[in-house]
Amino acid sequence: MKNYYILIALLFTIPATMAQDAEPLRELAKKHEIEIGAAVGPQQIQNDALYRETLAREFSMVTTENALKFRPTEPQQGRFTFDDADTIIEFAESNNMKVRGHTLVWHSYLPNWVENNDWTREEAIEVLRNHIETVVSRYEGRIFVWDVVNEAFENDGSLRDDSAWYEAIGPEYVEMAFRWAHEADPDAVLFYNDFGAEEMNAKSKAIYEMAKDFKERGVPIDGIGLQMHIPFDHHLSGRSIRRNIQQINDLGLQVHITELDVRIDTPVTDEELQEQADVYEEMLKIALEAPNCTAFITWGFTDRYSWIPSFFEGTGAALLFDEDYNPKPAYQALNAVLQTPPAQINRWKERNQ
Ligand code: G3I
Repeated sequence: MKNYYILIALLFTIPATMAQDAEPLRELAKKHEIEIGAAVGPQQIQNDALYRETLAREFSMVTTENALKFRPTEPQQGRFTFDDADTIIEFAESNNMKVRGHTLVWHSYLPNWVENNDWTREEAIEVLRNHIETVVSRYEGRIFVWDVVNEAFENDGSLRDDSAWYEAIGPEYVEMAFRWAHEADPDAVLFYNDFGAEEMNAKSKAIYEMAKDFKERGVPIDGIGLQMHIPFDHHLSGRSIRRNIQQINDLGLQVHITELDVRIDTPVTDEELQEQADVYEEMLKIALEAPNCTAFITWGFTDRYSWIPSFFEGTGAALLFDEDYNPKPAYQALNAVLQTPPAQINRWKERNQ
């Protein structure tokens, strides 16, 4: 009878060890010259050994999910706090991981002293400049890429006007932010990041036009982040996503898939987990075929900690590992794609200069 229980116990450990037996994603990704990453939180790093172990084993890049947003870093004017960001960055550095700093300028997650401001335009410019200069220069040479501005456009391609920065400064705040970030760390890679702009649409057209204008006028920008928060039964066109990545490439800019998660209505079925795996597979193939796509980041990596269930009620299970860090079909799908020899990936024309 004892052997029966040993056998049962073994069956529950096999899935978790499967990830450890497979070559980690980060090792396989090296051959494709792409970073594989995840958004992370400081508390999870501090308190969860399996989180640390899985993160360090599988990923070569981390994004600070919330720790480097405006509210946590400058909760009161002129008073900066970086403990949470330091936890993430120190972990990344001790595990040879690159860091995506997210995000210097966003309309959301702002402290009250910014939301309820009564600044003149000049005062607003100085507040934003000082914030960017303080945060970016603190991590000069340690943060590889910044999401300088996040979600500045509406779906119709207009600039979002429900932003404290737009209201106080005007549309120029976007360009100013990129220039200030570059001044604070000339070697940092600077991205614009947004959701719902993966395909060719009014939003991605507006982003393209902005980036084209920036490139023509010498405003420092290096890439566009496609967040890619999608349902498992999405209707995105792979062809349209490829065309969008290609037009960004034609500007000489990089693309990062910055926040991929594939939510499923809960409770999930095995069929839906396989459909989810198919979506992850499709998006990674699109990324690998694009010579200018240099990072593939999921927004978290274990269903134990995901923003999805609290933001999309009735959905969840959006990530690569389940709540017990067992690899899901989505993880297996990514691992399988990355095992493809790079020469067999039909990468379209090399990146334009
Ligand atoms: O840390 C506090 C905690 O002390 C408090 O008890 C708790 C309840 O009030 O709130 C906690 O803060 C929450 C924070 O996440 C950390 O968990 C905030 O309320 C909550 O609003 C915040 O949500 C984050 C959201 O951005 C807003 O900043 C999500 O975790 C984060 O995944 C999400 O990420 C965004 C990207 O930055 C931009 N793209 C979309 C993406 C999803 O919305």
